[in-house]
Amino acid sequence: MRYSVKFILGIVAFAFSLSAFDATPVLADGHMMVIKERKALMKKVVKATRIIKKYKKGKASDGEAIVAAKALRKAINSSIDKRLYPIGSTRPDVSAKKTRAKANILSEWEAFVEAGKKSVKLATKFIEGAKAGQGQAKFACGGCHKPYRGKKVR
Ligand code: HEC
Repeated sequence: MRYSVKFILGIVAFAFSLSAFDATPVLADGHMMVIKERKALMKKVVKATRIIKKYKKGKASDGEAIVAAKALRKAINSSIDKRLYPIGSTRPDVSAKKTRAKANILSEWEAFVEAGKKSVKLATKFIEGAKAGQGQAKFACGGCHKPYRGKKVR
């Protein structure tokens, strides 16, 4: 039996449309990509704070602390990006086991960004201080975590 090119192309197109259809639930769950990304940014933030804590104990240099604070600042700046918080990517749309981000991040986006900017400013202040040999190491993490991060669930 011989199939025409059109027929074969038709089959291929059909198969593609099927696989696109199949991908829909995966896409909805695709929020896992952005969730991973925002968690990864927060991991960078906490890693930086560990270096800064060492610095406060005299176990890391000014230079190391400054590099860490810059990384912290960059990661928080990247965190206040709407791209990382598409509709449906927070609790309760996503299982509490998978994300701790609360829905009010979306409904109070401006305030969320402000909380992020506050931490960014504190990081800048720390960098200036560390250059002068005395950094205040407070970054107001709670300004975000308290209102916008839910309890840990197992
Ligand atoms: C702009 C808001 C914001 C600021 C500022 C912020 N966080 Fe977060 N952080 C979040 C949100 C939202 C989550 C939850 C993300 C999720 O589960 O999807 C989170 C999660 C985390 C996590 C858990 C990551 C994981 O693997 O699940 C750590 C650790 C963390 N933050 C550390 C910090 C530290 C330390 C600071 C301050 C230096 C800080 N964060 C500042 C919003 C913020």
